Amino acid sequence: MKKYTTIKDIVNLSEMIQKAIQLKKNPFQFEKLGQHKTLVMLFFNSSLRTRLSTEKAAKNLGMEVMILNVNDAWNLEFEDGTIMNCKTTEHIKEATQVISEYANIIAVRAFPTLKDKEKDASEFVLNSFVKYATVPIVNMESSTAHPLQALTDAITIEELKTKKQPKVVLSWAPHPKALPQAVANSFVEMMQLLDVDFSITHPKGYELNSEITKNIPIDYDQEKALKEADFVYVKNWSNYTDYGKVISEDANWMLTKEKLGTAKFMHCLPVRRNVVVEDAVLDSEQSVVIQQASNRTFAAQIVLKKLLENN
Ligand code: CP
Repeated sequence: MKKYTTIKDIVNLSEMIQKAIQLKKNPFQFEKLGQHKTLVMLFFNSSLRTRLSTEKAAKNLGMEVMILNVNDAWNLEFEDGTIMNCKTTEHIKEATQVISEYANIIAVRAFPTLKDKEKDASEFVLNSFVKYATVPIVNMESSTAHPLQALTDAITIEELKTKKQPKVVLSWAPHPKALPQAVANSFVEMMQLLDVDFSITHPKGYELNSEITKNIPIDYDQEKALKEADFVYVKNWSNYTDYGKVISEDANWMLTKEKLGTAKFMHCLPVRRNVVVEDAVLDSEQSVVIQQASNRTFAAQIVLKKLLENN
């Protein structure tokens, strides 16, 4: 593996999942691998889990970690050929090459604008790092993808499944703010690679990018879709067609204990209680959100391990 910007970078998914589960049992077994190597983590946006779990993963491998909130650094220019006589101070070309001098791996979090669909689809921030860096890049959630989260989710389903082909449903939920499609996109891509009975439920008009959902069944009736599910993954995303807009806050789509049935409840967190999901679900034994968050460390650790071994 030369980089991890999308789950398409995974060479052998089942091996990655099994090795991550092994790492969880003995997190320090490769503590010499990253000695004298540095992970630089760059945040254009807020984070709790990604920041802490990726740092922990790197330290478990013996790496040094440097973290920069990019908004505290110089204003970066991403366009080629710009006359930089306005707000931007440093071009991504120099910045990325300079960071590469300090880092063995660079991890980047950069959310979408949710205003310019084409620009977001181009992944202009993440791909600028891929283009100009001389070291591997890890995606810590970009405009369109959250591959570390998706690997975590695959690990969690593997750990918890009680049948060979569990029924997994991704359900949209209401949210007052416009959120990216990244988590949902990567989860959909990941479920297409696993042996699961997978479907999506959301209100009409909330279709994700059809190049990602392909022929996955979509049911606009949430209660019907969730029947006999083994795993219900709840996530809000803003509108993809009317790009970045919140066209529904229909509270009927909030996940309740009744709709969950006997399924396990999954969510990437952070989650708004009693908006996205009711307390009774989050506070029940069916909620596996803390196990998911815990698995973020081992998803990141197996990714960093592969990058250290192959670069
Ligand atoms: N799930 C997730 O990526 O959490 P953070 O935004 O807190 O990193």
